[in-house]
Amino acid sequence: MEDITRILDSRKTSEDDIVNESGLRPCCLDEFIGQKKVKENLKVFIESAKLRKKSLDHILLSGPPGLGKTTLAFIVAHEMGVNIKATSAPVIDKAGDLASILTGLQENDVLFIDEIHRLSPAIEEILYPAMEDRSIDIIIGQGIGAKSIKLNLEPFTLVGATTRTGLLTAALRDRFGIPLRFDYYDSDELKNISKRTAGILNIPIEDDAAFEIARRSRKTPRIVNRLVNRVADFSVVKGKKTIDIETTKYALHQLDIDEKGLDDMDRKILRSIIEKFNGGPVGLKTIAISVGEEMDTIEDYYEPFLVQSGLLKRTSRGRMATHAAYDHLKIDSKILLEQETLF
Ligand SMILES: Nc1ncnc2c1ncn2[C@@H]1O[C@H](COP(=O)(O)OP(=O)(O)OP(=O)(O)O)[C@@H](O)[C@H]1O
Ligand SMILES: [Mg+2]
Repeated sequence: MEDITRILDSRKTSEDDIVNESGLRPCCLDEFIGQKKVKENLKVFIESAKLRKKSLDHILLSGPPGLGKTTLAFIVAHEMGVNIKATSAPVIDKAGDLASILTGLQENDVLFIDEIHRLSPAIEEILYPAMEDRSIDIIIGQGIGAKSIKLNLEPFTLVGATTRTGLLTAALRDRFGIPLRFDYYDSDELKNISKRTAGILNIPIEDDAAFEIARRSRKTPRIVNRLVNRVADFSVVKGKKTIDIETTKYALHQLDIDEKGLDDMDRKILRSIIEKFNGGPVGLKTIAISVGEEMDTIEDYYEPFLVQSGLLKRTSRGRMATHAAYDHLKIDSKILLEQETLF
């Protein structure tokens, strides 16, 4: 059975392959909804590169999971009219792997490296001259007879994607001429994405149902897609031809997704801060132990959304639940204070 508490996890899961993410990916800039600033700038850079008949400068895409980084990398290649070679840093573990990818690129091609913060230092060293001078040094032979030869590369565009810019070395980060940062989406953009997805799935969706899904999807298109699929399941089984608000609310309730789009773990984190630590401030490590979740997962995934939603505050002394968190969980902050004085 599907683990319903994870349906709001914006990181990619095997479920996404079943949903077939690639089939839902917009193929060109005009179809890509939201991220207005990223899109506007990119349009200019692409047009200029085309007019000057040059390769596009190297691009770094950063931002939380599921916001469309991979999608945009493919769009860049499509708009430039070039091939894309997609790979991921953890699979490039030998210098030879990267050398053969680089030498296989044709003029102005896009090389997409996902999770680029995970490149090993040795591989990064090869990438620097490739990015700057379009050349790589490869060592032929071994021991005393080993020779280094320089290979020239075709002009190409490296598109790197990362959810953790902080983990990128400054040397690598500085070599990207076009850094683009993705922001969370607003409800209208997400509503349009959910309508688009329902359209591709060939299931009509009512406006208010699309909005309800948008509102509860952690400001993330990947989650919109997942929820549209799940709500569509409920709708079909109920024998409805259109996804309406009633079925949507019922489905989201069954999936344990609350009014603000929080799941079980989000609520557990807030509840623990409020009930066990009197609202905070409390350290991340203590929270992690108290809810039985990895510290990294809380920091990278749960916390940003709780902060974004105004339910959690990061202070120098630790994490604190806000008044909105008390309200949302229907806990009266005064009662807690009274309890405190009793014990
Ligand atoms: N702006 C958008 N418009 C329409 N659909 C989108 C948009 N952004 C993302 N999506 C959809 O969301 C899904 C996830 O996007 P994508 O895989 O590009 O995210 P990502 O940022 O690369 O995530 P990760 O960090 O996990 O690799 C895609 O299948 C795509 O259909
Ligand atoms: Mg991706």
